[in-house]
Amino acid sequence: MENIKIKKKIFVRRVKKDDWKYFRKWWQDTDLITLTSGDFTKYRDEQLYKWFLNMFVDKKSMNFIVLNEQKIVIGHFVLEIKKNIAEYHVVIGNKKYIGRGYGTLINKKAIDIGFKKYKLNKIFLKVRPENLRASKSYEKVGFKKIAQRKYKNPNSPELIIMEIKK
Ligand SMILES: CC(C)(COP(=O)(O)OP(=O)(O)OC[C@H]1O[C@@H](n2cnc3c(N)ncnc32)[C@H](O)[C@@H]1OP(=O)(O)O)[C@@H](O)C(=O)NCCC(=O)NCCS
Repeated sequence: MENIKIKKKIFVRRVKKDDWKYFRKWWQDTDLITLTSGDFTKYRDEQLYKWFLNMFVDKKSMNFIVLNEQKIVIGHFVLEIKKNIAEYHVVIGNKKYIGRGYGTLINKKAIDIGFKKYKLNKIFLKVRPENLRASKSYEKVGFKKIAQRKYKNPNSPELIIMEIKK
């Protein structure tokens, strides 16, 4: 049989209230929690839903849903903007799409939106030192490591800070 290779593409749109079904799943996925917040507290749906709804209240938090070339929802990214600087978070919540090159495309898109649409001067992120796949995907689009530190919160792990300037 002919091996047809589909060209990877992503589409992004702002988060809608109807997207709760995705976040509800992703925010309770232990694999994803290990790589992101590391917070394994069993939060009730009501608490998670409150955080989800806050996305629509916080006008400085630009949340996007990512879809692939087949228009399947694969993940989420956010630019949390303070003046001309934003903190970037990304999660491919639909785990079968991890490690296939989509993250690099998402990072590129987030940078493009951040610098062009929101006129940012700088985008930074925090990543766990052991999350080599994520770090590599950030390096590939131009993020540079600037520091590694432990935050005041005793539960916070050691984190690498990376940034990209306009
Ligand atoms: C982080 C994330 C968005 C990256 O997206 P992705 O689609 O998996 O990444 P990509 O496939 O585009 O790129 C990963 C790169 O890391 C490389 N890589 C994978 N595992 C690696 C490892 N253990 N060590 C070093 N490099 C590794 C891949 O080979 C690839 O590089 P290449 O394209 O040059 O071959 C995605 O993995 C994800 O959502 N993970 C779960 C949540 C998470 O970790 N979020 C980030 C928190 S800071």
